[in-house]
Amino acid sequence: MATNNPWVARCCILSALVCTVGLLCVCVTFLVSVTCMNGTFKHAAVSADSPLCSQVGRNVLQQGGSAVDGAIAALLCTSVVYPQSMGLGGGAVVTVRNRTGKVTVFNFRETVPRKFKHNLLDDCPATSNHVTGSQWIGVPGELRGYEVLHKQFGRLPWSKLFEEPIRLAKEGIPVSPFLGKLLQFPSIKGKVESSALCEVFCNENSSTLTTGDVIKFPQLAESMEVIAKQGADAFYGGEIGRHLIQDVKAAVTFSGGTLEMEDLRSYRVRVVDAWTVPLGDTMMHVPPPPAGGALLAFILKIMQGFSLTSHSLVGDHKVLFYHRYLEAAKFANGQRGNIRDPFFNSRTSADHLIDDAFVQHIRAMISSNGTHHDSYYDVKPFPDHTGTSHVSILDEDGLAVSATSTINHLFGGTVYSPQTGIILNNELSDFCGRADTLKPGEQPPSSMTPAILESKSGGLLVIGGAGGSMITPAVALSLINHLWLGMSLKEAIAAPILFVDSKNKVNFEQDFDKSVIDGLRALGHQVGEMEYFFNVVNAVEKENGCIVGESDKRKMGMSDGY
Ligand SMILES: *[C@@H]1O[C@H](CO)[C@@H](O)[C@H](O)[C@H]1NC(C)=O
Ligand SMILES: *[C@@H]1O[C@H](CO)[C@@H](O)[C@H](O)[C@H]1NC(C)=O
Ligand SMILES: *[C@@H]1O[C@H](CO)[C@@H](O)[C@H](O)[C@H]1NC(C)=O
Repeated sequence: MATNNPWVARCCILSALVCTVGLLCVCVTFLVSVTCMNGTFKHAAVSADSPLCSQVGRNVLQQGGSAVDGAIAALLCTSVVYPQSMGLGGGAVVTVRNRTGKVTVFNFRETVPRKFKHNLLDDCPATSNHVTGSQWIGVPGELRGYEVLHKQFGRLPWSKLFEEPIRLAKEGIPVSPFLGKLLQFPSIKGKVESSALCEVFCNENSSTLTTGDVIKFPQLAESMEVIAKQGADAFYGGEIGRHLIQDVKAAVTFSGGTLEMEDLRSYRVRVVDAWTVPLGDTMMHVPPPPAGGALLAFILKIMQGFSLTSHSLVGDHKVLFYHRYLEAAKFANGQRGNIRDPFFNSRTSADHLIDDAFVQHIRAMISSNGTHHDSYYDVKPFPDHTGTSHVSILDEDGLAVSATSTINHLFGGTVYSPQTGIILNNELSDFCGRADTLKPGEQPPSSMTPAILESKSGGLLVIGGAGGSMITPAVALSLINHLWLGMSLKEAIAAPILFVDSKNKVNFEQDFDKSVIDGLRALGHQVGEMEYFFNVVNAVEKENGCIVGESDKRKMGMSDGY
């Protein structure tokens, strides 16, 4: 029907316009959702080191919790799923980027108790031995840390964060293949079966549990219930703390002091600014000493100067790249003595490790045609060790949390408190090879380096690792792979690593490129005999509005989000 009515014409034009706009909206929505598909998330993600704990963290976020709420729940969950790695008897370093970009480090690592064993450091093992016994227990900071974080950033009630972990501890969970395998390692099996840990980790025949057996934590569940109701004070001044101290004292087999109630009462969380280190177009935020951020930054700053690209992995360039990395790692080993608790060691500083002039000087000392004698790097012997757990989280509002938590060695020092269900750390052994004396309140140096990186274009990368001494190479290589060598986050974390041990020998993870190993031998690198790698990296990255979560497959992890 033809018409001259201007109103009808206008109406048509308007309708057409509305249709076009509508279509455009549909198209844009479609495009945005397309770019966020394939296992990436639109709103938030959690990368813990087990699928179950990533899920527990995600549930908390979806109930309205912040990234800090999610991180606390995921860590409490991990203390049940991977109790050998972390728990309420340990400590943590947590890096938080608030919604407006301020990055703060919450350091609640263990401290030296007021009374400690005389000449404790004489008991240090010469090599990478697992140390056991209550003389190595540092004052646990874990719960005070959660409390401080929750007060500042929490959205859900404190008790809510404990609900799922308590349920898991009470009802029990199947022993994961990862833990099941560990419990059959002869050294671990022997220690668990001959200690109070056997109450939880053994079957009725006092033999360690195997994969798939149901493990329950009734005492830990009870402790968590009390703490959920009464807060961290139940641990630092109340009944949980008293029972813990009773059990620790009952386990003491030497004279000269160990953990006491007064140590718990006086424990304080340290809140400090992160170190911010520019790496080209990226800003990296890491925890300062006594945490391991300085060594990570040192290695990355050295490597950045070699202008790496995806081409660096082609042909002979690949050997040269790994050779330079190894040289940087050897220099980093030589610098470990500078990572000390700054509040107790005013004459030791790690500031030079992120100083451009010093980094350039070291980079110039790296020869492309060969490696050098140990003395060239100033390496002093120190024990290597393993353990720890990491959670990376990013929430809907842009709060980012990178949390590394540990009881130090696997099962700590194998001191278990039967009344509370808590496994005590052996963190004081981190002083071995790194210190001559100890002071009450001092924190041992650590490799832990929960990091947050931001790119110029607004991208965020929350990353950290576990595995004791292997944390530094694991996180450094993941970042180099991803930032400069063109690998996706998944490929970057999955790529086999190489680890320079305390004797300056190079150890290669399974499946490391054989031709590169030959090339590195030809450059003079000596190869070590490390059999087991415990490196784990968990990360979350947000770019162009989409979030990728990546939990390390080495520990059979899986991230979660929505
Ligand atoms: C982030 O921290 C800074 C410094 O403490 C503060 O000024 C700012 O308000 C914080 N932003 C948010 C969103 O809390
Ligand atoms: C415990 O030992 C008994 C007798 O050797 C055996 O029959 C039983 O299967 C064992 N139980 C477990 C859980 O291994
Ligand atoms: C590497 O090159 C330098 C300078 O060219 C030379 O002095 C040195 O002997 C070489 N080292 C090896 C191991 O070939």
